[in-house]
Amino acid sequence: MMKKGFPSSIWIAILILGEIQAAPCIHLVGTVGKKNLFTATRELTWFESLEYCHSLGMSLAVLESEREVTVVEEYLQNCAVKHHVWLAATDLFKEGTFTWMNTGNPVGTLPRWLNGQPDGGLRQNCVLINGSTLKWEDQSCSFIYCRPLCQLLS
Ligand SMILES: *[C@@H]1O[C@H](CO)[C@@H](O)[C@H](O)[C@H]1NC(C)=O
Repeated sequence: MMKKGFPSSIWIAILILGEIQAAPCIHLVGTVGKKNLFTATRELTWFESLEYCHSLGMSLAVLESEREVTVVEEYLQNCAVKHHVWLAATDLFKEGTFTWMNTGNPVGTLPRWLNGQPDGGLRQNCVLINGSTLKWEDQSCSFIYCRPLCQLLS
């Protein structure tokens, strides 16, 4: 539920309009509490995605609740064009320990890992949600067939 009152909704509208001029490809995935999640129709590496979200004044998405995961899953499920999204989860800092890079918090038990994942060792250090299976996987951070999931706190 979006809260009543102007500030956050107007802000989002301005952001979306601004972005439509700059790059006609950003979508609101959903809003949970103060967190607004967006994705873009372009496919980027994980590093490019970090930069992309930052360029919009956002950051790569941290998912912290069942509700947030469900909102993203529903979006991916209803999307006619199946695609994957990058999250801010990575084990680049300590192999085998996945944390949210914005907060340093461990991902804990929230991830819906695909059976057998994460399995990429030193080669796969970045986390995506597969739009076909809705499962989480570790992938090479240079993998390019994935869209950024950005968050904006209002
Ligand atoms: C996503 O899941 C599909 C179906 O299992 C699989 O074919 C595909 O390789 C997966 N994509 C990625 C990026 O892992």
